[in-house]
Amino acid sequence: KTLSEAFSDDYTVGAALNVQLLQGINKKTDSIVRKHYNSIVAENCMKSMFIQPVEGEFAWVDADRFVDYGEKNNMEIVGHTLVWHAMAPDWFFVDSVGNDVSRDVLIQRMKTHIEAVVGRYKGRIHGWDVVNEAIDGPDGVRQSKWQTIIGDDYIEMAFKMAHEADPDAELYYNDYSMYEPKRREAGLRIVKNLLAKGIRIDGVGFQAHYGLDVPLVEVEKSIVAFGELGLKVMITELDLSALPFPSEEVTAEVSTDVAYQEKFNPYKEGLPTDIKNRWSQTYIDLFKLFTKHSKYISRVTFWGVNDTESWKNDWPIKGRTDYPLLFDRAYKEKSVVQSLVQLSYKN
Ligand code: G3I
Repeated sequence: KTLSEAFSDDYTVGAALNVQLLQGINKKTDSIVRKHYNSIVAENCMKSMFIQPVEGEFAWVDADRFVDYGEKNNMEIVGHTLVWHAMAPDWFFVDSVGNDVSRDVLIQRMKTHIEAVVGRYKGRIHGWDVVNEAIDGPDGVRQSKWQTIIGDDYIEMAFKMAHEADPDAELYYNDYSMYEPKRREAGLRIVKNLLAKGIRIDGVGFQAHYGLDVPLVEVEKSIVAFGELGLKVMITELDLSALPFPSEEVTAEVSTDVAYQEKFNPYKEGLPTDIKNRWSQTYIDLFKLFTKHSKYISRVTFWGVNDTESWKNDWPIKGRTDYPLLFDRAYKEKSVVQSLVQLSYKN
């Protein structure tokens, strides 16, 4: 069985696609995706920075390719993302002399963007990550330009606008570290507010950029908490870093310094067996948990396909050799793939 076949009774399984694949210059990754996954999301090409880099000038080529690819391969197509503080070009927020625009102007720009992007793919996108990463800080409210200029209700507005632009598309709220109790509470506040006002929201995405210490008990609590509200829970950006998470702020660019490499990039030649086993076991435990709650979970999406192309090599510090995904640098499937497939025979 392939991965998507293995979990077909439970949830779709997918991956984020980069533009190299969509441009047809990444054949090996392409065949992995078509073999194993029945769901796709755009890693970058639908972000506002790429799709509307200049006000009124839309760059559709890669996003069109993305949607065509999904349709051609009969996949569930997810759009990512409409309203995010990052990868949003400055022009959204400033006037011609560099001051913040007024609330009305920003609302209008948000509307124009959502109408154009959602409208273009109307009827072709299964669901949209409407608002991404609105949670931050002690009170759970990220003071992004969206929030400071418009107010907390930018979230409701974005969902309403997306719904108007494509009434059949599912709409999601997506954020990271949703297992942390404070962030879980903040997320619940956001979605409960939408539900109470009768604004369409279908699901919540847990980004799932995990490390080996991911607290499964807390992940489970969050799955249940959102699932019990009647929302679909999606594991949207799954990857599992094998590297230590630096506790200090490291801003260095790629460094060839030996001490630096030993400390921050310790597994350049491959993972030691004990770490590799722990890494595989953590993936297995995660999928057991997802399947246990398959009545809540509708989709599991990996953030990328193979280790070479993963963003984790460059975050939180640049130029490392990480091993977060199910396919290695030679495009070979890791043994954990078959372990995951085996899980489906044990129910
Ligand atoms: O395409 C440009 C290229 O034209 C330019 O020359 C080059 C110079 O830096 O940059 C290229 O863009 C990069 C882009 O990835 C495509 O490779 C951006 O700099 C880089 O910042 C961008 O990183 C992406 C990041 O989001 C920011 O958008 C990562 O690939 C992507 O994996 C990551 O994904 C995010 C999710 O959207 C939201 N959740 C967190 C997740 C990880 O950060």
